[in-house]
Amino acid sequence: MGKLDNRTALITGAASGIGKAIAKKFAMEGANIAVVDIAKQPAEELVQEIKKSGKRAISIICDVTDERQVEQAVEEAVKEFGALHILVNNAGVSPLKPFEEITLEDWNKVLGINLTGPFLFTKAAFPYIKVAGPKGRIINMGSLAGQIGGIAVGLHYTATKGGIMAMTKQLAKLLAPYKATANSIAPGTTDTPLIQGWSKETKEALIKQIPLGRLGLPEDVANVALFIASDESQFITGATFNVNGGMFTC
Ligand SMILES: NC(=O)c1ccc[n+]([C@@H]2O[C@H](COP(=O)([O-])OP(=O)(O)OC[C@H]3O[C@@H](n4cnc5c(N)ncnc54)[C@H](O)[C@@H]3O)[C@@H](O)[C@H]2O)c1
Repeated sequence: MGKLDNRTALITGAASGIGKAIAKKFAMEGANIAVVDIAKQPAEELVQEIKKSGKRAISIICDVTDERQVEQAVEEAVKEFGALHILVNNAGVSPLKPFEEITLEDWNKVLGINLTGPFLFTKAAFPYIKVAGPKGRIINMGSLAGQIGGIAVGLHYTATKGGIMAMTKQLAKLLAPYKATANSIAPGTTDTPLIQGWSKETKEALIKQIPLGRLGLPEDVANVALFIASDESQFITGATFNVNGGMFTC
């Protein structure tokens, strides 16, 4: 018996890093997985990997900023698997730019992917999450940056993550009548391609400030996502789960 048997999860940004770890973990626990990403090849590779383990998955190539593509992605997942219980709004970008160099175009681009994308997916998935009732889950990927202010990331990124975590609290209220939940996860710095542009010195300086003395791993975040997605978290909603090795200030 898997913790997510007979459930369908749609995970955005699932072709890489944290989203990929969540997709693999949820599949291991029995969920059908819609791997949603803008990157075709890694999304399809992940689907093959999940299928080899005897589980069901499809890849859906979608830009989270495009309303029509988002609506089609949700419909495709429901058509394939018959329902949608869990939405993980995970896709995100973190361009490195000093504050005074961030243009309006940069700002709009990051807001589009990190904040408008989750809005669009939540809106499209909402009717299905309501029907899923006590098994309905929205899991939004926030960030430590959105709680304490970014350290090595841009101001636009930090703003989106604060927004995501605030949005989650209101979604929790909107879903409560249906016994479905909305929670966010706030990872600290996690070792994924998102931070590949960081210098060795930046990473080392940061690790010195993390009480547990290492960067997070995608699996650290996936473990928490599984708990939130499972029946074990039924009385938890509107919460932010910190996965940061004890780094709460800087
Ligand atoms: N890595 C970290 O240190 C860290 C820390 C805190 C929060 N997060 C958050 O975790 C989430 C996942 O980050 P990650 O570290 O796994 O990054 P990643 O770069 O490994 O993965 C991000 C995925 O999002 C996809 N994506 C980007 N733009 C897209 C778009 N327009 N439409 C669809 N898909 C798109 C990418 O193709 C990629 O597969 C992000 O929301 C990020 O902000 C990461």
